[in-house]
Amino acid sequence: ARIRHYKWEVNYGFQSPDRYKKLAITINGRTPGPKILAQQGDTIVVELKNNLFTENVAIHWHGIRQIGTPWSDGAGGVTQCPIQPGESFIYKFVVDRAGTYIYHGHYGMQREAGLYGSIIVSLPNGVSEPFSYDSDRTILLNDWFHKGTDEQVIGLSSIPFVFVGEPQSLLINGRGKYNCSLLNTPSSEPGLCNATNPECSPYVLTVVPGKIYRLRLGSLTALSALSFEIEDHEMTVVEADGSYVEPFVTRNLYIYSGETYSVLVKAKQNSSRNYWISANVVSRKPSTPTGLAIFNYYPNHPQKPPKTLPPAGPLWNDTKSRLAQSLAFKARQGFINTPPLSSDRVIVLLNTQNKIDGYYKWSLNNLSFTYPTTPYLIALKNNLTDAFDRRPPPDRYDFANYDIYSVAKNVNATYSNRIYRLKFNSTVDIILQNANTMTLNHSETHPWHLHGHEFWVLGYGLGKYNMSSDWRKYNLFNPIMKNTVPLHPYGWTALRFRADNPGVWAFHCHIESHFYMGMTVVFEEGIDKVGKLPSSIMGCGETRNPYI
Ligand code: C2O
Ligand code: CU
Repeated sequence: ARIRHYKWEVNYGFQSPDRYKKLAITINGRTPGPKILAQQGDTIVVELKNNLFTENVAIHWHGIRQIGTPWSDGAGGVTQCPIQPGESFIYKFVVDRAGTYIYHGHYGMQREAGLYGSIIVSLPNGVSEPFSYDSDRTILLNDWFHKGTDEQVIGLSSIPFVFVGEPQSLLINGRGKYNCSLLNTPSSEPGLCNATNPECSPYVLTVVPGKIYRLRLGSLTALSALSFEIEDHEMTVVEADGSYVEPFVTRNLYIYSGETYSVLVKAKQNSSRNYWISANVVSRKPSTPTGLAIFNYYPNHPQKPPKTLPPAGPLWNDTKSRLAQSLAFKARQGFINTPPLSSDRVIVLLNTQNKIDGYYKWSLNNLSFTYPTTPYLIALKNNLTDAFDRRPPPDRYDFANYDIYSVAKNVNATYSNRIYRLKFNSTVDIILQNANTMTLNHSETHPWHLHGHEFWVLGYGLGKYNMSSDWRKYNLFNPIMKNTVPLHPYGWTALRFRADNPGVWAFHCHIESHFYMGMTVVFEEGIDKVGKLPSSIMGCGETRNPYI
């Protein structure tokens, strides 16, 4: 195994990924940031310098379990003090499992500002994939907002509430196409949107006829659930969040923020034209144009756009087809990791939108998450008993009296920094229960992501989860393992994991505004087994003073 060193500088810079010029957060001058390429078992060392003048930063290695290095998880406020302006921090961790992963900012809403990239981990020498392909390509999907991050953050925490709104464009590998004529830009500001900026040409994936390509997809959207397709081509899904799945063929893949997939695409035997690669918004009424890239057949000209209309995508509100695709995933035969047949603890989390003191918030069992000033990992390891509220949050909501289809007032919702403490090595079930938002007849899709683990996806359903019968619907035979999973509108999702990774781990909705508005819980397990914390994580809260 090798050690792979990276030196990164995080900066604000003017970028025009969709032709519209705005301030973005870059790594070494770019967004998306550099791709991390490694082999299973390698150690990754990222020396990160925060060159932002006024903002902290932290980076999360999404899908990497950080076994033995919980302080490198990058969850600002949970596992480390965020890195202050001008400071450097060293992330050091082992990529213990081959697969497709991502990384992104995990402080404030910096992911949305462009702070993200991919991590590709290959198999050890001599081990081969259970499928074959000629070449692989990474495709990162994102949604892009023209408003600055500060403005978005402040809007979310203002009265009256100002939502971030729908994205102006969708990016494929950091490129999109905004229609500059929508701007009414005064000609005195010609630089703001450059309709012909050659740097904003779409991403081109060139293929050779007859070859098989493995596309490694990752979604880092701040808000949007997407449907990904390649015009007139089928895709065979083979990997999800780093685990092999029983191959299935589809025309469109639903991909939620925080998820990664590999799909195999066979190039046609010959083609005199190029095709569209497209991403469309689903689950929210789309007001963002289709994100486009070019599937270029060698030797056609790479920039030649197809004359056909890009795929329009499925109906945005077709929850059934999204649920059906979620249910279609099974672990790949020969690679099934069987879950424990029962669990030691069941935590049911009711997902609600409500108001606290007039502010819009998201809550789990009526608690809306806030950060303590001393990160949990530091507070627990050092026994700082007053660093956060030590009362356990509830494992249940009021089943009998809560109507998930109504706009509930939730007058008792409060802010909380309480955490779930799990028995080390126990098996834990999480039932995510969706509900109506504060808008009549409206429920959203929430992609839930767990740090430090992968979990078995036991089942999905619509309506209110029934404690006495719905467990019968679980797939205990060949469930897939993931780190991010959708909770569909008015539905439930059931997961199971082993609390076997000593540390403190965030579990949250991957929609950045929801996360910012409190849609998080935190788990602790085996804190006594965590090794000595590096002092570099301790620059804030009760351990701020290095001389004590
Ligand atoms: Cu990719 Cu805590 O998030
Ligand atoms: Cu959400």
